[in-house]
Amino acid sequence: MNKRFYITTAIDYVNGQPHLGHAYEKIVADVIARSRRSLGQEVFFLTGLDEHGQKVQQAAVAEGKTPQAYCDELAADWRAFAKRLELTNEDFVRTTEPRHKQFVQAILSKLHEAGQFYQETYKGFYSTKEETFLTDKDRLPDGTFDPAYGEVIELEESNYWFKLRNHQQWLIDYIEANPSFIAPDYRRNEVLGFLKNNTLEDLCISRPAARLNWGIPLPFDKDFVTYVWFDALVSYISIPAAHGDATVLSALNSQTQDASSETQLWPADIHVVGKDILKFHAVFWPIMLKAMGLLLPKQVLVHGWWQKDGAKISKSTGNIIDPIAVINEWGLDAFRFYVLRELDIGPDGNWTDSGFKSRYNAELANGLGNLVNRSLSMLKRYRNSVVPAKHDELAADAAKAADETRALLKQNQLQAALQSIWGLVTRANQYVDQTKPFSLAKDPAQAQRLDEVLYNLAETCRVLAVLLRPFLPGTATRIYAQLGLPGAPDKLDVATWGGLPAGHKINEPIPLFPRKDA
Ligand code: MSP
Repeated sequence: MNKRFYITTAIDYVNGQPHLGHAYEKIVADVIARSRRSLGQEVFFLTGLDEHGQKVQQAAVAEGKTPQAYCDELAADWRAFAKRLELTNEDFVRTTEPRHKQFVQAILSKLHEAGQFYQETYKGFYSTKEETFLTDKDRLPDGTFDPAYGEVIELEESNYWFKLRNHQQWLIDYIEANPSFIAPDYRRNEVLGFLKNNTLEDLCISRPAARLNWGIPLPFDKDFVTYVWFDALVSYISIPAAHGDATVLSALNSQTQDASSETQLWPADIHVVGKDILKFHAVFWPIMLKAMGLLLPKQVLVHGWWQKDGAKISKSTGNIIDPIAVINEWGLDAFRFYVLRELDIGPDGNWTDSGFKSRYNAELANGLGNLVNRSLSMLKRYRNSVVPAKHDELAADAAKAADETRALLKQNQLQAALQSIWGLVTRANQYVDQTKPFSLAKDPAQAQRLDEVLYNLAETCRVLAVLLRPFLPGTATRIYAQLGLPGAPDKLDVATWGGLPAGHKINEPIPLFPRKDA
């Protein structure tokens, strides 16, 4: 069996309902996963939930529930959310599942035996909100700690620590030798700047069970639970292990039980994560993997943060976007389109309702929707829905969009791919305006010219469906159905010009994106 293209998202804390930021990341990963399948690769797309730790425990207590019951209830909502977004994930991990917990304990035992941990008493500052130890270096110029840390307390406690320090130069060398390991470039520079200007502190990988018991017990000391980030990061390999990935299992020195069920996933091809958790993925995780004797993921792909109306998305101020409400009103593909077209993977984005509506009306309703609807309606009206003989006037434009899209998808340039696809939408709409098929239809002497124009339009709609499939899966399927073609265009190869055969009968045209008043 070949190694599959393995892509992951961050696993979300289950301390509330999903919001725009969560939805965006999952959609980005889904489009990449669908694109790779469309390019012919075998894919394994993993997403899921981060259920341990203080944030979740506190949220459960606030609702008067046990953490497990609280997680079980919310996990059902989050799974339903993944379905609503039409994510094509192969698996969904919950860190409270036995398959994950057992793996975390096995790897902890292994690292402990290998002398990677030591126990030491720490005395200093601690942010309960972020569950993290702070030093004087973390103070702002005015001597206070960033309000993002919440309440900072002084604390003295014994814990287990993971030796990070010795690996600092190795990591710098690795990142410099592997320029595509962290993308975009400015995020790589950020990590290199951090590593070159700071001394890495060892990582605390435990919390005393007396203070926090909602976690995976350390297998070698029952008085402690595993630090939530150590637990969460390991989900990227515990799930491959559960699927029989021999590479990951070799880190435990255990044998694959059934060689025929072997799924080759590790190393991951892409971890899609937000900028706030870059250090965990680009500093701690690589060193953990090195200690386990595993290769590093090929890429950590870092996206920016969404704001709404120029301000932080925040439950407490009510400045939120409820993705489900938007999807209910405008449709899933309108939501997927807006977030992917508006924001490139990297910078921060700003959601505005007016921006959403104007993209909907201009690009979906008047752009793509109008093109498909008028092309197919004219074919129905003037040619009784029967596709005329092949003609190649728009073939070069379609090939250009297809070639560009294919190349851009290989580089995960989703926004640029949509721009290229819309270049074809615009070209085809101009073609209608220039060739005026509604005038040609009035003149019997122009019958052949009308055939040519109608073929070019119908075939362009088909090519667009193929190119759009990873981004707007439902729309692509609907275009195919209206064209009277079976199934969905799941392989980019079928974007080749000329797929619509002469004499083929199309179905009833139905508007894809009804216009809505702004
Ligand atoms: N549980 C950790 C991740 C562990 S991964 C091994 C976590 N969870 S989170 O729920 O806080 O965030 C999950 C993902 O959502 C992160 O990648 C984060 O960057 C992303 N986002 C959360 N809010 C966001 C925005 N406002 N905008 C874009 N993405 C944001 O961190």
